[in-house]
Amino acid sequence: MARTRLVAGNWKMNKTAAEAKAFFEAFNAMPQTAGSEVVFCVPFTSLETSVAMTEGTKIGIGAQNIHFENSGAFTGEVSAEMLKATGAQWVVLGHSERREYFAETDDTVNKKIKKALEYGITPIVCCGESLYQRENGITFAWIASQLRLGYVGISAEDAKKTVIAYEPIWAIGTGKVATDDQAQEVCAFIRAELAAMYDEETAQSIRILYGGSVSPDSAAGLFSMPDIDGGLVGGASLVAEKFIKIVNA
Ligand code: 13P
Repeated sequence: MARTRLVAGNWKMNKTAAEAKAFFEAFNAMPQTAGSEVVFCVPFTSLETSVAMTEGTKIGIGAQNIHFENSGAFTGEVSAEMLKATGAQWVVLGHSERREYFAETDDTVNKKIKKALEYGITPIVCCGESLYQRENGITFAWIASQLRLGYVGISAEDAKKTVIAYEPIWAIGTGKVATDDQAQEVCAFIRAELAAMYDEETAQSIRILYGGSVSPDSAAGLFSMPDIDGGLVGGASLVAEKFIKIVNA
């Protein structure tokens, strides 16, 4: 089954709205050679600017979190409805930084996936092991648990509307990219797990991205692996010249 390659930038806590505008002025002028889908997940404060700057292009815009309730006394949070109202259509959920610093759990990720889908927002659901877990041989058990708990109560039909990002924590922001084979091994495992949770057809239709120090140099090798359908790119997505090379890899 042909899956359209997806290259998503995760800006994390970077760029003001004015900086986002300047970024898209440069990026929009750069020729895109590959037929990849391109998405930027930006800070909430840059959403409206980013949506406006990419209107009429094929670039998608998203956030990096939502709350799982519709509204109410949740100081500092943003709902799926509010996100949707900006024109954004994507959201990164369960990023390891949110799990580590903001008490995100598989249970809250599960609720957020459901809420995003309810509003027609495409979730990019992150999973990945720490170095400690990898060195102690529990990578696969850990990823299986994150997936199975994250997707509790989500139908095959809805699961197909999601994207999964495999981001080994030891490779995030460290410059220590997983080898093509290491990344492929876990992405293939994720697909096999999805087949066990749902069915082969569902597993084959869900896009699985790799994230963790993806650069213009490492992108082509990673993206050529059979179960890697693109990338979730942090640092290199902040620089238009670097990111376009990854998109075109
Ligand atoms: P880096 O590409 O900066 O390692 O970040 C990866 C990431 O966390 C994307 O979500």
